[in-house]
Amino acid sequence: MTTTAPPSWAELVEDLTAEGVLGEPWRAAFLAVPREVFIPEVIWRRDGDDLVALHRAEDPQEWLRRAYGPRYVITQVDDGSPAGPDGRGRVPTSSASRPDIVALMLQAGQVQPGMRVLEIGTGTGYTAALLAHYLGASNVTTIEVDPLLAARAQAALATAGYGEVTVLTGDGAHGHPAGAPFDRVLPTAAAPRVPYAWVAQTRPGGLVVTPWGSAYKPAGLLSLSVNSDGTATGGLINTTISFMELRDQRTPRPEITEVVRDTDIPEVSDTDLHASYVGNDDAPFAVALQVSDCHVEYVAATDDDGHWCVWFLDPRSRSWARFDYHPGTRRWPVHQFGPRRLWDEITTAYHRWEQLGRPAATRWQFTITPHGQHVSLA
Ligand SMILES: C[S@@+](CC[C@H](N)C(=O)[O-])C[C@H]1O[C@@H](n2cnc3c(N)ncnc32)[C@H](O)[C@@H]1O
Repeated sequence: MTTTAPPSWAELVEDLTAEGVLGEPWRAAFLAVPREVFIPEVIWRRDGDDLVALHRAEDPQEWLRRAYGPRYVITQVDDGSPAGPDGRGRVPTSSASRPDIVALMLQAGQVQPGMRVLEIGTGTGYTAALLAHYLGASNVTTIEVDPLLAARAQAALATAGYGEVTVLTGDGAHGHPAGAPFDRVLPTAAAPRVPYAWVAQTRPGGLVVTPWGSAYKPAGLLSLSVNSDGTATGGLINTTISFMELRDQRTPRPEITEVVRDTDIPEVSDTDLHASYVGNDDAPFAVALQVSDCHVEYVAATDDDGHWCVWFLDPRSRSWARFDYHPGTRRWPVHQFGPRRLWDEITTAYHRWEQLGRPAATRWQFTITPHGQHVSLA
């Protein structure tokens, strides 16, 4: 490959190394694999609530700055069909992940020479290339649900000299039984419920290291050791990362107006539980484990009276709740509508977490069996 990374990339690599985020062998891989080969000509940047296209040909400096920058690079919106007006996008659906998070995930995978690795969520192919650089391309298999992204990643891998990586198109939730067993399964899309196929296709003693998250709390990196009885156990080793969800486990992120209608007649009550308590520290993990399919939307005060609100939205059942904060009082109104009472569910989950002694997110023990995902306190 003839591309040369700008000096800022070497600086970023050195910074990540100095911070202890990036060590060998991944530091060498970061310096060797040309990241720009994996970044498409059109990337997306935020503009208010929208995403707008940034063409390399139109602004090569900015494109290069982002391709080799410390942030994640949005490489696809709305599953490839921009849903906003004038070609604008609404939701990122593929990206080149943040370099520090790529480093974190690779290191958490404890990959050793000779291992065979299955990556779920090829995206740009960049992570697969880093793995291929270290392990040899023939030891790396990667699955991408989107055929166009898979084809683009395969071409980029070939251009960068890693053409022997096996790139498959399909639903990575099923893994790749024909290639099993793997030593590591490393998904790069979040799984609220870890598919058992990933465990079944990892040899005993191997690891599944996956982003974990839900609509309520889209954050966390889960490391699971596969046991000889075919189950896997582990917990969260990071609670600050955020990832897009596996396509089939996605809860569509709704606009408030998509769920709430003027004609809805909500049930009104009041609460002494401040909404910030259910959104801070380790509480959101406990709530996320108990309350599925619930998006949170904070709406800041728009006037001087200090009133703000938080919406809780489940587009599937068209249930919603709204907590209204008013200063100078200890009880706040709650409106709830739909088949689910979302605020009641959240309150129950929060109080359960309190009764358990407010455990840290890292204390939840995940067990994955053929029958599903079970979570208890370690
Ligand atoms: C954060 S991006 C992956 C970043 C990627 N590892 C890289 O290095 O560029 C997540 C990717 O997972 C893909 N994805 C989502 N659901 C999937 C599924 N069920 N099976 C396979 N890929 C999936 C998305 O299309 C997206 O490209």
